[in-house]
This record gives sequence, C-alpha cells and structure tokens, in this order.
Amino acid sequence: MAAAGPLLLPLLLLLSVLPGPAGAVWPQPQAQRSPPGAGRCPLPPGRFRFAAAEGSAVGPGCEVLDAAFQRYRPLLFARPTESEPSWGTPCTQLLVYISTPGCDVFPRLDSKESYKLVVSKGSVLLSAETIWGALRGLETFSQLVGRDENGTYYINETEIVDFPRFPHRGLLLDTSRHYLPLRAILETLDVMAYNKFNVFHWHIVDDPSFPYESLTFPELSRKGAFNAMTHVYTASDVRAVIEYARLRGIRVIPEFDTPGHTLSWGPGAPGLLTPCYVAQEPSGTYGPINPILNSTYEFVTSLFREVSAVFPDFFVHLGGDEVDFTCWRSNPKIRAFMKEMGFGEDYKKIESLYIQRLLDIVSSLGKGYIVWQEVFDNQVELRPDTIIHVWKEAMMKYKEEMANVTRAGYQALLSAPWYLNRISYGQDWIEAYKVEPLDFKGSPEQKALVIGGEACMWGEYVDITNLTPRLWPRAGAIAERLWSNSTVRDLEDAYARLSEFRCTLLGRGVQAEPLYIGYCENEFGEV
Ligand SMILES: *[C@@H]1O[C@H](CO)[C@@H](O)[C@H](O)[C@H]1NC(C)=O
Ligand SMILES: *[C@@H]1O[C@H](CO)[C@@H](O)[C@H](O)[C@H]1NC(C)=O
Ligand SMILES: *[C@@H]1O[C@H](CO)[C@@H](O)[C@H](O)[C@H]1NC(C)=O
Ligand SMILES: *[C@@H]1O[C@H](CO)[C@@H](O)[C@H](O)[C@H]1NC(C)=O
Ligand SMILES: *[C@@H]1O[C@H](CO)[C@@H](O)[C@H](O)[C@H]1NC(C)=O
Repeated sequence: MAAAGPLLLPLLLLLSVLPGPAGAVWPQPQAQRSPPGAGRCPLPPGRFRFAAAEGSAVGPGCEVLDAAFQRYRPLLFARPTESEPSWGTPCTQLLVYISTPGCDVFPRLDSKESYKLVVSKGSVLLSAETIWGALRGLETFSQLVGRDENGTYYINETEIVDFPRFPHRGLLLDTSRHYLPLRAILETLDVMAYNKFNVFHWHIVDDPSFPYESLTFPELSRKGAFNAMTHVYTASDVRAVIEYARLRGIRVIPEFDTPGHTLSWGPGAPGLLTPCYVAQEPSGTYGPINPILNSTYEFVTSLFREVSAVFPDFFVHLGGDEVDFTCWRSNPKIRAFMKEMGFGEDYKKIESLYIQRLLDIVSSLGKGYIVWQEVFDNQVELRPDTIIHVWKEAMMKYKEEMANVTRAGYQALLSAPWYLNRISYGQDWIEAYKVEPLDFKGSPEQKALVIGGEACMWGEYVDITNLTPRLWPRAGAIAERLWSNSTVRDLEDAYARLSEFRCTLLGRGVQAEPLYIGYCENEFGEV
C-alpha cells in the first residue's frame, strides 16, 4: 500500500477497476434517449458508407466532410471483418444532412456546432446546421459503436441532441520552452477533435526560443530559434497546421506575447528590446520590448501585419502578462521618458502605453484580440469586444477576477484552474473536472460573457516525449466541463466514461495515460 498513500484512500471508494460502459460518449451529450424497446443494429464494415442526405445544403465534394469520412472509417472499423453479420437488420449507411451551405470556410467563434444523431434499424441520420456540427456528430457516432462477443460491430438504437455549452474550448501548447515537431502538433489536433475541443491556442514564441519563421523578419528565427534549420515552423508548416485544424473544426489562434516574454526576439531584431543598465552603464542584458521608440511600433506593425495575414482566425492572442519592470527602471532614457510623461514611478503606465498602441495597431489590421488578465488589471483601455484570459491565482482568487472582468463588460476565458503542465500524484483530473466556470458572484448578464476556457500545457518540463500522456486523458476533464451541461459532474460516472474513452484513445494509437488501476480490452500498441 506504500505507493497509494493515505491521499488516495477516499478515492478508492469511487473506483471500479472494470472498463466503463461500452458506447458511452465523452464529453457527454446534452441529451440522449433510447426509444422504448430500443434494439441494436450490426454495422457491416465492407458495405458501410457515408453519404449526404437528400436535400443537404452540403454534399459530396466538400473536403471537410469527405476527409472526415475517410478519417472515421478506420476509427470505426479498426479490425475489418469481411463476414456478414449473422443477426439483425444491418445499418449500412450514415446520412448527413446539413442545413446551411458553406464548406470552404474556417470555423469561427460564432460557428454553430449543434447536431442531432438518430440511430434506428437500417440507417443512421446525422443532421446539423453546419459542417462543424456534423464533425462533432461523427465523433459521437464513432464512440457509440461497439463489438459483440463474436466480433461483430454494432450500434444501439438511440437519439442524441447535442450542442456545446461554451463556444470557445481551447488547448494551449507552448512551442518556445521546447520545440514540438509538426507531427506532435498534428497528433494533438486529432485528439482535440476526439474531445470536441475547437481552439488550438498556439503559444508559438516566448523568451527561450523563436521558432516561427517570419517572412518579414527572417532573422527572428534565424537568430532566435534553438536551431534555425531544424527547430522552426516554416510558412508551409504553419499552413499545414491551420488546414489540418480546419478539417477538424478547430480554430488556430497564435500568441505573440509582448512586451515581456520576448528575450528570444532580441538577437534578430536589434534595437527592439530595452537595454538594461547597471549604475550608469548598459549591462549587456535586455528586458522587455522598448516602449519609447518609434521604431518599436513600426516593427510590431509589420510583424502583426504578417501574423494577421498568415492566421485566418479573427482573433490574435497578444499576451501582455508578467512584465518585469526592473530593466525599464534601470534604463535612464526610459526614466527620462517616464518623467516627461508625468508617470512618476508607476511603470504600469508605460506598459499600458505600449499595450494601448499595440491594440490600436492590431485593431487597424482588422483583427480582434485576446489578452492575459494583467492587461485588464492594469486598466488599459480596451475595445469592448476584447477577450480577457484569466490565468492567475488558481487558489480561488480567479473567481473574483472572473467577476471583475465580466462586471466591466468584457468577455472572459478561464484557464487559471486548468494548468495541465502541473502534475501531482493521484487522480488530478478530478480537480480540473470539478471546476464550475460560472461559479463566481455576478449577474446572469455577467455569466453570459464567459465564452469558455482553455487547458494549458506550458512547456518548461514538456516536450514530445511526455506531451501526449500528460495531456490525455487529463485534458478530457476540461473538454467535458466546457462541452456538457453543468449538471454533468458525477465523479463515479465520469470516471467510468473517461476510463472507457481512454481505452478508445489507446485503440486509436494515442499514448494516453491511465487514470488508475485497471485494463483495456485493447492495450496500447495492440491494434
Ligand atoms: C447497448 O445496449 C446494451 C443494453 O443496454 C448495453 O449493455 C451495451 O453495452 C450497449 N452497447 C453499446 C456499444 O452501446
Ligand atoms: C455468437 O456466435 C455464436 C455461435 O455462432 C452464436 O450462438 C451466438 O448467438 C452469437 N452471438 C451473437 C451476439 O450474435
Ligand atoms: C516619433 O514619431 C512622432 C509622431 O510620428 C514624431 O513626432 C517624433 O518626432 C518621432 N520621434 C523620433 C525620435 O523620431
Ligand atoms: C476585483 O475588484 C475589486 C474592486 O475593484 C478589487 O478590490 C479586487 O482586488 C479585484 N480582484 C482581483 C482578483 O483582482
Ligand atoms: C441542463 O440540465 C438541466 C437538468 O437536467 C436542465 O434543466 C437544463 O435545461 C439543461 N440545460 C440545457 C442548456 O440543456
């Protein structure tokens, strides 16, 4: 018992070591019912086909749907059996009906993801307003399929009406502390889609490295990447990520965090960072972006002009967190500027001045922005449609911040309790799962301003070797919190479904870690 320790004992009560129920869906749909006398129907892999229903506004030739059909076939039928089922009326097709035209588009914050799935003997009908809803419904369908004792694929008759609770369900990856190869990002996008996440927040650059290959400023990655040949994201890599994500209904929001977190920018952008001083001499080290030079604003205008064109999403994440004032304080020119502006000793004022100008620049490029909470805390004047990303003080203070942000009328995203890079012994998915994003003091109008949240995987201790098991299935806890009804919070039921979902992930080749003691019918690597 030494390894389990006293902390685990209370949890043992709610655990069963058996795999969970077959055909359970993660995240749990909003409504599911089985018609009275529901039976089941076998799915013959060889004859099963996907097709557009009559009258569907989107049909064959829509790449998002065609590519999804191709992806799901091997996920549904991992072990193709040629023999015809020996019982029942087989379901030989899944018909997709989409009511709103639109295929060559990108998912957006206001995209509709609702769908309805009706499984009855002989056929499966998936209807949705948009192709994005159809993608969510296909994932649900794939999780409903089981195998009987003779290995026949089958699905129970059922009816599901489903939609997300929050429109922004994100996952942050940090590719600056460690470089993540393109393959790791693409694989993560796959598993995000299995969890119905719909935003990839790409924290692409930071202090340690600058892997983004800029067309306007190629020196940034040449001098700022860990390795300018191998540890960079080329323009074609970035396009690949955006398209791979689009095909899975996932938005890509890049973060270029300034004015702090920019040390890696320095070598490739001479004059951009503030020189720090010791006594009256430059010390040779650098601090945040220099906010008092016109050249700084010319630089950020050009960089964000490129970023705005490369990344199609309306939103860019502008960071704005953790600005260290020590270097600014040491620099005589900055001090002189502070004096001239009448800022006294309040370095937040010069930070705000920089952020204010940056926000105006990004607005003028036709983009919306997300910022970390400090930008709000420091009372920068923000456009009314700004999204404030709450990350600080996981120990409950974040609720007050959510209240403050929404009281001021801003939209909010929650990440504070969802730092998956932090790990602890035992079942730490439970803490993430128990969070209720709207549990703060505020009016219904304030609650309506919460557009969702993001799981964060900061990269100090994470690279491709441990990314996947640290993410999955733990991030699934957050995926369900952001998708399902707020009343879905029974830990015993969640444990059973999440364990089963984790087995499904293993079957799909994802190295998801176990929640606790137990086994899967298909262990990793057996398929
Ligand atoms: C189908 O329904 C039966 C009876 O409720 C249940 O035992 C079985 O696990 C279900 N299978 C799937 C794949 O949903
Ligand atoms: C499995 O196969 C056996 C032997 O053919 C048969 O008796 C049994 O009914 C089958 N089970 C199902 C669920 O079809
Ligand atoms: C910076 O730009 C402003 C406004 O365009 C101008 O008035 C000022 O002279 C410039 N400062 C420098 C040092 O070039
Ligand atoms: C929320 O606002 C109140 C009133 O302005 C302030 O006292 C408090 O510190 C703020 N809370 C947080 C977490 O910033
Ligand atoms: C969430 O579940 C509760 C209880 O079942 C129900 O009253 C409520 O309508 C559900 N919310 C939505 C948006 O369906």
